[in-house]
Amino acid sequence: MAPVNELLTAQMSPLAGAATIFSLGNEHAYRRWRDAKLAAYPRAPNALTVEVEDLAAPTRAETRAVLAACRRANLCLYRARAHRGDARATRRALGAFARHFGLTRFEAQRSAAADGIVALEIAAQGGRHGYIPYTNRPIGWHTDGYYNYAGPRQMIRAMLLHCVRSASLGGDNGLIDHEIAYIRLRDENPDYVAALMHPQAMSVPASEAADGKPRAENTGPVFVVDPDTGALGMRYTARKRNIGWHADAVAAAAALERLLADEALALRVKLAPGDGVICNNVLHDRIGFEADSDRGGGRLIYRVRSYDRVGDACGAPRADEGA
Ligand SMILES: [Fe+2]
Repeated sequence: MAPVNELLTAQMSPLAGAATIFSLGNEHAYRRWRDAKLAAYPRAPNALTVEVEDLAAPTRAETRAVLAACRRANLCLYRARAHRGDARATRRALGAFARHFGLTRFEAQRSAAADGIVALEIAAQGGRHGYIPYTNRPIGWHTDGYYNYAGPRQMIRAMLLHCVRSASLGGDNGLIDHEIAYIRLRDENPDYVAALMHPQAMSVPASEAADGKPRAENTGPVFVVDPDTGALGMRYTARKRNIGWHADAVAAAAALERLLADEALALRVKLAPGDGVICNNVLHDRIGFEADSDRGGGRLIYRVRSYDRVGDACGAPRADEGA
């Protein structure tokens, strides 16, 4: 008999046996996958934490550990112990780390520098001033790029946050694997899942983005099944203002909001300098934090967003190949 871990991995792959586990109708395959997923789901962030000696060049063992965490919970918390003195070297290492795990197509954003990395810190002035990511205010549950959906192949599938400086108080992130949110909702009522898969489930009206560009209205599903891989993506914000829900999705959105309020579901972490999270754009939030303006450098997080999923294009063994 195969080792338990191997069995779990095989069963946890949405590709194992059927690409339709997330679409309603393949109840047997879904149940098998669901039970294995829940049995292996970690209760504490430590179980998903990997020490990485050199961010720019992870070892084979480190690579395997990061990919295993991402297969298990769609996210990995890493600790890079080799601190880099200057911003340029850190950014270069971070870009290399992202590409190492198959994140090659970074989101093109005006807020991003030429290397595709966005520096998230308090902006006291300029175009970003007043936009929540660039303040010390809390941010509710969301996945990245929910306002910029352009089809299942052109959505933000992965995201990386890397801490350069932490706040003296607060700034902790909450993380919830979106597959767990999916399971909870489907357990409660499969109709909720169907409603949130509707192509017009959630609309974000036209507005101006933090980079000053006008942003067109954006409509799309909340749960998205990748037509190529069968993987589940999610597009969501708990924001109340300026979000339109399809009439059939209102009850489902309320149920989702309710379940995200269950603190037992969230992994809570405070990233320290050198720490980061690499993930398949899981649900995340942030608590408010101390501005630390008198300390000469408050909280600074580098962010990378990618249209690729972790591991999809890095030659890593796939779960259904028995690795
Ligand atoms: Fe975010």
